[in-house]
Amino acid sequence: MSCTQAGLYKESMKILSNNDLDADILDWPVYMGQALELARNVIGTSPNPRVGCVLVKGSDIVGQGWHVAAGQDHAEVMALKEAGKAAESAIAFVSLEPCSHTGCTGPCAEALIKAKVAQVVIASIDPNPAVSGEGVAKLEAAGINVFHLVEFDQAARDINPGYFKLREQGLPYVRCKMAMSLDGRTALANGESQWITGPSARSDVQKLRAMSSAVVTGIETVLADDPSLNVRLDELGFSELEMARNELTLTEQPLRVILDSKLRTPTDAKILASPGLVKIFTTAETTEDKNLATNVEIIVADKSGQRVNLRSMLESLGSDFACTDILVEAGATLGGAFIQSGLVDELILYIAPKLLGSDAKALLDISGLQSMSESINFDIVDIRKVGNDIRVTAKPLTTSENH
Ligand SMILES: NC(=O)c1ccc[n+]([C@@H]2O[C@H](COP(=O)([O-])OP(=O)(O)OC[C@H]3O[C@@H](n4cnc5c(N)ncnc54)[C@H](OP(=O)(O)O)[C@@H]3O)[C@@H](O)[C@H]2O)c1
Repeated sequence: MSCTQAGLYKESMKILSNNDLDADILDWPVYMGQALELARNVIGTSPNPRVGCVLVKGSDIVGQGWHVAAGQDHAEVMALKEAGKAAESAIAFVSLEPCSHTGCTGPCAEALIKAKVAQVVIASIDPNPAVSGEGVAKLEAAGINVFHLVEFDQAARDINPGYFKLREQGLPYVRCKMAMSLDGRTALANGESQWITGPSARSDVQKLRAMSSAVVTGIETVLADDPSLNVRLDELGFSELEMARNELTLTEQPLRVILDSKLRTPTDAKILASPGLVKIFTTAETTEDKNLATNVEIIVADKSGQRVNLRSMLESLGSDFACTDILVEAGATLGGAFIQSGLVDELILYIAPKLLGSDAKALLDISGLQSMSESINFDIVDIRKVGNDIRVTAKPLTTSENH
């Protein structure tokens, strides 16, 4: 199907807001809410999106599905398998437009057509150029009406911020996590920083890692703390059900990435020895004399001054390694550089109820601001207590939002 044909969906697909829902379809938002909840139950499916699907016939849910991990059944296929023959003339509620292409699994639009569902209701259009609009067009060409519940569009995008950002802007979604004391310090003057926060906050960080395609750190953190930066299943605090749902995703570690311009990573660093792939981005000219294990790759990066250019490093993680969601776990230097470059989408701060004193290290190395109008401003989107610590999630305001 050509792109021109795909464009047709805009004319025929019905866009519904909550005000358009008449008595017959008043419960559609409830089913769509359930489809979104199924998508949220999965911690991560990178590079694929998290998707949920609910099949409804009359007032009965006859099938439910969610995408578990790349290479596994898509949400629609799981729901159709559960519904069996009952899928015929059911309404499919899907959090993302059904796919139209054959990737690792067959196209979901075709599976829905074959199962003879009556209608398809979606919460968002897939930004993937291989799908965008084509899934809808394929369904419509087979005589199946497709409805877009626009009030769910943002919620559906929020479930997969990295999937959308990578396709729309060519960059993955970046979360920068820092742990700090009440007085805004991240390490003692001698570099010691383990542990500022308590076990619950550290378990929460394990979840952030598990939902990320890559964890990025700076060489100074590798030298000071010798971290593994891996996901440790026993520290996730998952119930048996959560563990079972996420089993397949959790078998793979996120990519670990070290930014190390002068290639100082010790060959016996723990991060290199733990299972999973490690990429070292460097600007060093000689890389041959490093005798590293096969899971470790040295990548000669674009420079910004003498250091790794952060934007092109992120572009490379997106285009070369299909990373959608990045977690930066570094010290004040790299954290500050990411924030100052405007490359962070979410700052996640764990605040521990302790004071580390004025000679301890500051949260972020950001300097040169001359007036309050130059301050970097955020919108706080979430605050919650995690054990004895507080977690604050903040999103940077754009320049126009600032003023
Ligand atoms: N509280 C927390 O949440 C937390 C988390 C992690 C670490 N820490 C603590 O932070 C301390 C280390 O922090 P740090 O600030 O010294 O180091 P860092 O931020 O971990 O690493 C900074 C290094 O990254 C390299 N780098 C490569 N490209 C860069 C770029 N474009 N911009 C900035 N840096 C780039 C630079 O070294 P080259 O020029 O040699 O490449 C730079 O010195 C340790 O004490 C650690 O315990 C605290």
